[in-house]
Amino acid sequence: MYQVIARKYRPQAFSELVSQEHVRATLENAIAQGRIAHGYIFSGQRGTGKTTVARIVARCLNCVQGPTTTPCGVCASCREIAEGGAVDVIEIDAASNRGINEMRELRENVRYRPARDRYKVFIIDEAHQITNEAFNALLKTLEEPPEWAVFILCTTESHKIPATIASRCQHFSFRSVDFEDLVARMKWICEQEGVEADADVLAILAQAGDGSVRDSLSALDQAIACCGNKLNAAEVRALLGRFSVDLLEQVTQALVASDSRRMLDIVAELDRNGLNLQHFSRELSRYLRNLLVAKVAGAETRLIAASPAERERLVSIAGGFSEEDLTRYLQLSLDLFRDLQYSLQPRLHLELGLLRMVHAGRLVSIEDALAGLGPAPAAPAAPAAPSPSAAPRSAPVAPPARSAPVATPAQSTPAPAQSRASDGSLKERLYQALIGMGAQFTADAIEVSEVSEQGNLIAITTPREFALPMRGNDVQKALERLFERPPHVKVTLTDEAPATASMAKPTDETTQRTLEHPAVKRFQEVFPGSHVRTVRDLRDT
Ligand SMILES: Nc1ncnc2c1ncn2[C@@H]1O[C@H](COP(=O)(O)OP(=O)(O)OP(=O)(O)O)[C@@H](O)[C@H]1O
Ligand SMILES: [Mg+2]
Ligand SMILES: [Zn+2]
Repeated sequence: MYQVIARKYRPQAFSELVSQEHVRATLENAIAQGRIAHGYIFSGQRGTGKTTVARIVARCLNCVQGPTTTPCGVCASCREIAEGGAVDVIEIDAASNRGINEMRELRENVRYRPARDRYKVFIIDEAHQITNEAFNALLKTLEEPPEWAVFILCTTESHKIPATIASRCQHFSFRSVDFEDLVARMKWICEQEGVEADADVLAILAQAGDGSVRDSLSALDQAIACCGNKLNAAEVRALLGRFSVDLLEQVTQALVASDSRRMLDIVAELDRNGLNLQHFSRELSRYLRNLLVAKVAGAETRLIAASPAERERLVSIAGGFSEEDLTRYLQLSLDLFRDLQYSLQPRLHLELGLLRMVHAGRLVSIEDALAGLGPAPAAPAAPAAPSPSAAPRSAPVAPPARSAPVATPAQSTPAPAQSRASDGSLKERLYQALIGMGAQFTADAIEVSEVSEQGNLIAITTPREFALPMRGNDVQKALERLFERPPHVKVTLTDEAPATASMAKPTDETTQRTLEHPAVKRFQEVFPGSHVRTVRDLRDT
């Protein structure tokens, strides 16, 4: 009868186990010293050896020659346990026996001595599925277990085991199996089975498992069923829905070249060949993740499930990108993967996602841009420091800035009323008063507002986007600084563009020097569209 490979090659002794050295060493010691606990929790990813080790432990305990770390494998107990038919080793699948009745039965059962062997071993698979009442029933048993009882709870979700139970058990975490270990295991099994598989095929199978031995072995089963005894990388890849590295590398080439056209061609090619676009985006995410890890950790890393040659290749490709780029691409590819899961138009989504990546690559990071400025040239006599707004604003014109070294009225005696004759000077003085108060945001708002005097009322028309700072009472306070009898203020919001032009006034010599300063000019080159809004003389502050 045909037996699936995973079962046929289930390790029967600790020595056959792949990976999980820490679990193995601790359990072997405990068994050798006769320090057997009554409760164990085996947790970890599916297909990493939990049930397998539970059975090995049962053998170690019940082998006629035991307790031993090297069960004989031929006595009745050893053989029965391997076949799953030993009377004193009770396997319970909690997925289907999760209720209180089963646990009561189990409690009854525990009370009787083993029928033949030394221990009664209860292996509870999928233990996280047990109901709360059933856990309570189990707890009673774990609190006062008879000397012969050993419970092994296997679970992929250990956080779902109640703390009351967990605290009475020894906990072992099973690790995802490393790529190299998986490859070695696949290789050995293929040899045993007389199956030809080259390094490429083995790598594909190992990757398909994603750390689970069982999943890799299932992939191998599938490959043998499909391709016979001679496995071919391209066929196996297609069978498992994986994409060739070539295709993924084409994406990176298009990214390097900022080539949108090529991206679209790649999608067309995928579509023409009827390939699953969602799988592709998943593979792309993994690939970008590997590039990022290669960039950060180098070719030696064990964090990438790939052969040494593939890792070298990843490192060399990653060299063409910055860590930041790759992080951004990875984020975008994950967004894309998520979008594709619900998409009725996968092709369009894929195109959009890939084009976004191309565009993202064209962004210059702020660090790079600033690095491009180089060290600031030693400032000549110019005393003024520019404070341009780095983010390009939508305001079309870059107004020459005002200079600040005006004696702030705030500190001087209140100005006489007639000095608010012209709009410009009132606005100007209001602005300076606000700066003097440290109310920069409100000053910015005034800068783009229209300010006019109407009797004992000051009408301010502010673009809506600057409404927030106008809500406070900064303006009123500033006016109190400026006038003995401060006028009332009326603020009107407008949807019109900021009135920057109104501030374009002739500048004094300091401002002129500032704008001609090489550092300022470089800055404006690097950040096109930026403009100098204020020039302040630091000696005055
Ligand atoms: N560490 C391992 N070494 C060698 N083979 C393993 C290992 N882990 C799993 N296998 C293989 O995978 C098969 C399934 O393993 P096992 O039943 O122990 O997994 P599990 O951790 O209990 O998974 P699940 O959480 O799905 O129950 C075994 O029959 C064996 O062939
Ligand atoms: Mg299991
Ligand atoms: Zn034995």
